[in-house]
Amino acid sequence: MNDSSKSKRDDARKALNQLWKPGCDFLGTEFAILGGAMSWVSERNLVSAISNAGGFGVIACGAMSPERLEEEIIATKALTKRPYGVNLITMHPELDKLVDVCLAHNVSHIVLAGGVPTGATIRRVRDGGARAIGFAPALALGRRLIKLGIEALVIEGSEAGGHVGPVSLNVLAQEILPHISEVPVFVAGGLGRGDAVLSYLEMGAAGAQLGTLFAASSESIAHDNFKNAFRRANARDAAVSVQLDERFPVIPVRGLTNAASRSFMKHQADMLNKFQNGEIEREKAQLEIEHFWAGALRKAVIEGDVENGSVMAGQSVGMVKEIKPVSEIMSVLVDQAVEALEKRETLFS
Ligand SMILES: Cc1cc2nc3c(=O)[nH]c(=O)nc-3n(C[C@H](O)[C@H](O)[C@H](O)COP(=O)(O)O)c2cc1C
Repeated sequence: MNDSSKSKRDDARKALNQLWKPGCDFLGTEFAILGGAMSWVSERNLVSAISNAGGFGVIACGAMSPERLEEEIIATKALTKRPYGVNLITMHPELDKLVDVCLAHNVSHIVLAGGVPTGATIRRVRDGGARAIGFAPALALGRRLIKLGIEALVIEGSEAGGHVGPVSLNVLAQEILPHISEVPVFVAGGLGRGDAVLSYLEMGAAGAQLGTLFAASSESIAHDNFKNAFRRANARDAAVSVQLDERFPVIPVRGLTNAASRSFMKHQADMLNKFQNGEIEREKAQLEIEHFWAGALRKAVIEGDVENGSVMAGQSVGMVKEIKPVSEIMSVLVDQAVEALEKRETLFS
């Protein structure tokens, strides 16, 4: 690299640092990239690897008990001295206790997921000295969360893996980013390249959250079958679960199409038939539908049964071509953003 191209590269790097400074300052990181919490996947190894690589790892508490969460936090702290967060599901029956465990261990950031958190929970987090992050599936909800005291928002498009809303990141970003400047907003869903992240930073995002790419990293404890399914899949294979009948609501989840996702359709049809024939009550049929996926993510992630388990994945899965260390995934993302900025400078100079 000659002197002039080196100075162009340095300028582009500075421009990127400037663009995502609000995100880096909020998270206390070098890069404003969060590793989105993924149940069973986002544990000590992956979380510390993301934080050690300059990003922000987030432990997925999921259905863990307060004692189990405490164990995971202590283990994570032993593996990284950098900032990391914990993602708590708001409908967890022991939510307050989980918040207290985080606070007792000086977790700096708590992500409140899976519904709108109450003002009391947000206050508990903030009064205890942690930063509170929430999810905004629409502009009005984002505004409400800020009023309730949320200090940063994640907007997650329907391209994402796991439980999803109905609106794509492309549209959510246009709806929300120009109108929210009070708190940093992080974009999520379908992101697999740094130049795409850059385009959202230029629209006003403070940073980005990625899940799928990190789930397939070398440090992820997901079973090799799970990672190999990611490596082989195309974007179109990561589909949202379909609800068969409006009387029996299904929470949409994006994951790789497999034997389980196909038999879920049959299971719904069976329940619907039984209900229509008067063989089962509505509540019982609804429960049967909800229970179909119980334990299914663990089955795929930990046991490696990628046909009968739930292989949650975002549409970005099509960009997973090989299993790489987190540090490499991170530096490729940063380089892609820097290169895109460099190209632009050349275009306008
Ligand atoms: C396997 C898997 C499990 C997930 N589990 C959770 C979860 O427990 N809690 C949560 O808030 N988000 C969960 N997510 C969403 C991620 O945190 C993240 O927002 C999402 O993966 C971003 O989209 P992407 O996968 O296209 O990068 C999960 C995603 C995946 C792929």
